[in-house]
Amino acid sequence: MSLLIENEWKIIQEGFSKEENRFYESLMSTGNGRMGTRGNHEEDYSGDTLKGTYIAGVYYPDKTRVGWWKNGYPEYFAKVLNAVDFIGIRVIIDGETVDLGKCSFKDYRRELDMKESIVRRSFTFIGKDGSEYSISSERFLSYADPDLAVIKYSVKSLSKDANIVFIPFLNGDVRNEDANYDEKFWDYVKSSAENNISYVTMRTRKTNFTVSAAFTWKLEGITEASEPIVDRNGEYVGVKISTKAEKGTAAVLEKYVAVVSDRYYDTKELEEVAQRKARTAKDTGFSSLFDAHKAKWENIWHMGDVTISGDIPAQQGIRFNIYQLNCTYSGDDPRLNIGPKGFTGEKYGGSTYWDTEAYCLYFYLGTREPEIARNLLVYRHNHLEKAKENSRKLGTRGALYPMVTMNGEECHNEWEITFEEIHRNAAISYAIKNYTDYTGDENYLIEKGIDVLVETSRYWVSRVNYNPQKDVMMILGVTGPNEYENNVNNNWYTNLMAKWNLKYTVDTLNYMKDKYPGHYEACVERLGIKEEEIKEFQHVSDKMYLPEDKELGIFLQQDGYLDKEQKLVSELDPEDLPLNKKWSWDRILRSCFIKQADVLQGLWFLNDQFTLEEKTRNFDFYEPRTVHESSLSPCVYSIIAAEIGRVEKAYELYLRTARLDLDNYNKDTDDGLHITSMAGTWMSIVYGFGGMRIRNRKLSLKPFKPSAWKGYSFRIMFRDRLIKVSVDDNGATLLLEEGEPIDILLFDSTVTLKPGIEYRK
Ligand code: BGC
Repeated sequence: MSLLIENEWKIIQEGFSKEENRFYESLMSTGNGRMGTRGNHEEDYSGDTLKGTYIAGVYYPDKTRVGWWKNGYPEYFAKVLNAVDFIGIRVIIDGETVDLGKCSFKDYRRELDMKESIVRRSFTFIGKDGSEYSISSERFLSYADPDLAVIKYSVKSLSKDANIVFIPFLNGDVRNEDANYDEKFWDYVKSSAENNISYVTMRTRKTNFTVSAAFTWKLEGITEASEPIVDRNGEYVGVKISTKAEKGTAAVLEKYVAVVSDRYYDTKELEEVAQRKARTAKDTGFSSLFDAHKAKWENIWHMGDVTISGDIPAQQGIRFNIYQLNCTYSGDDPRLNIGPKGFTGEKYGGSTYWDTEAYCLYFYLGTREPEIARNLLVYRHNHLEKAKENSRKLGTRGALYPMVTMNGEECHNEWEITFEEIHRNAAISYAIKNYTDYTGDENYLIEKGIDVLVETSRYWVSRVNYNPQKDVMMILGVTGPNEYENNVNNNWYTNLMAKWNLKYTVDTLNYMKDKYPGHYEACVERLGIKEEEIKEFQHVSDKMYLPEDKELGIFLQQDGYLDKEQKLVSELDPEDLPLNKKWSWDRILRSCFIKQADVLQGLWFLNDQFTLEEKTRNFDFYEPRTVHESSLSPCVYSIIAAEIGRVEKAYELYLRTARLDLDNYNKDTDDGLHITSMAGTWMSIVYGFGGMRIRNRKLSLKPFKPSAWKGYSFRIMFRDRLIKVSVDDNGATLLLEEGEPIDILLFDSTVTLKPGIEYRK
């Protein structure tokens, strides 16, 4: 069995078990925003493994697989591709191949050092004759130059002098485990293997992304011979390096890899660029490259770390989440986004969901420079034409953003989600408000965001249904965030957010007319907006129907929700959970059980519009009916629980996602990590326990401390200021660490933060 060791900065696996290998491979995933690898072994491993190397934005349109085709279905599901395996190093010691699936070994340890962003492994290999060899490896994907990966692999012979053969290689012959039709997604382009440098270039089928990986190497010790190797029709290139290690000394191989794609470089020059970068990396050397990489991570941690004292598992958990979010998205390219599994597995295709706007944006706004969050918005703006096409395809006007996408085209293929989970449009509009209120930067709103607002509003207007008897606008046939019910009428959250989207568009247009007349004129012209249309937006917003139950004093999740047999999760036999694994889909749909925050999601987004009493009544009604079978769910409930003063409950809900993957809570960490919900965990601390809100564009905080912790602290980037918030038994301390003085609200009173002066309350 393996042990997962508690540590504040590291994820450590001690001991090895084949059954848990995939789990630990997921946990030890690392990335630099441009590429990522699972925590695989460099040397051969014949046991169960998901070898995974993923390159941001390089995807394949895998032909849709459905039972019964429906008009409007997308042709394909975009999959982030398992790409060239560049970490591989075959190791042969005195004629025996090192393969932990087959050979004897002891003292296995694998760790992910999150502070320095490096994966280290060590074990003692025991040869057939009982000789022992101490083996260790280190590898990092550079955050300073995201095209680079560096590996150091060391074999020390403990019992006798040894002959060691290293075969560092690149293998382009890889497949996705989740391919719909078992197809190969890559075509071979060319490769070359030489003693000093080798490369392989592969091209994706259909999408034609070309990726070239090159490596060079350095051996500490004497190279007795080296010989290039080419295999699998050129898709595998390597070099066989023979060396000797005297008893007690180590043979250390360094492998310098560059991986480049024609998303960033000219296709014709890829091999040249990859080889040049690999060579330069080797000249720079491991330690200088590592220093530059660490410096980048130091900055990330400086701005975004959360410390928790008195609770090591909690500390480890939150750092793991912050770490993995930064591995997935570095924010320098608006063509990239955040897949629910990032670079840690293949499930969910690595595509973009509403998770980005509803969860991840908050994290990047709070912990990184504003450009990084802005790029997430630009991504959607760049997809506006495709969203309009999508809407046309479904017979509506304006823009309907896809539920799942890689390049702006819808690729989700279940009708109840693709056609009905339309609330995503509002989350995309809401992100524009969130960004603008948080950063104070109105440029995005008036130059680009307004187009998204107008086109999404046009969609809502064409999607609503006027009911003359009740004189209200209704939205029929939808799926709300609660995916455990489909084709419902008047999902409160969807209607609320559509109403809000329309109103925000009108308000923004009026604001622009007044404050930015030039931009207003340009936008009216560009989008062909007529006065009547603006009035219509307002009218539909005003008339939107929002179901509620006056007697219970709650907002109704949808029409007819109370017709269902009302039961609580606490009344279920624990054996029935999770419902999505234990119950038929029919039974789930008929039940009152809620997958994830739905009404509560609305109370969170439009937090200012509701009273504490309303929040409390709805929380008390819906939380006991929610099974939280989406990892996105508990954080929203946790934040609202904190707001209504349910401190213990807030903490209990926080715990459900804080160590979701580390503790394998959903028994699915093998597939990869829940990257997008990690942002929710961060939100539970900062927005939940820290009580952070943006009120009238001002930062507002109401921190409290969960009793399980001695204290905690976090930093937030807010309008060019870095503010540290520390909370312990004596209350909250605020410190403006960088930037000009600023007025904020602390427990509803205005406080002026000045550089270097601590403010306590
Ligand atoms: C959730 C969606 C989410 C998706 C990807 C689903 O289980 O219900 O809200 O967008 O996972 O994370």
